[in-house]
Amino acid sequence: MSKTIYILNGPNLNLLGQRQPEIYGRETLADVEADCRKLAEGLGFGLKLFQSNHEGVVIDTIHEARKSACGIVINPGAFTHTSVAILDALNAFDGPVIEVHISNVHKRESFRHHSYVSLRAEGVIAGLGTEGYQAAVRRIAQLAAKT
Ligand code: DQA
Repeated sequence: MSKTIYILNGPNLNLLGQRQPEIYGRETLADVEADCRKLAEGLGFGLKLFQSNHEGVVIDTIHEARKSACGIVINPGAFTHTSVAILDALNAFDGPVIEVHISNVHKRESFRHHSYVSLRAEGVIAGLGTEGYQAAVRRIAQLAAKT
């Protein structure tokens, strides 16, 4: 079985650290990747972090994960609230899925309160800032060890 955890990020998350830092903080996606890789490797897992602004590329990467990942951490960005196609792709993935939002989406506009991805996710983390990714990696490691 693969021992690689995938961290998938949707649109605009390439701008993490620069985009609305009062909401998303000053850490970059490269910082998230370094912290999560160190954590995952300490737990005996590999890590791959992806980001795309294109829905189809996120879906293709979820398909790739079917063969190469033991679990998926996903921050789908705004696709969270719109994409049945990403939900369908995650439903075709067998391992654990944890959904992450850097901000507390429930404290924000009502259109951010609904998530298609939550219908599939084993857990949802919102509002912990970029530390949420590390909490999600820890949880995937626990769940993947059970399978
Ligand atoms: C986000 C919340 C989404 O509503 C938003 O569109 C994002 C980021 C978060 O991490 O808090 O792009 O997923």
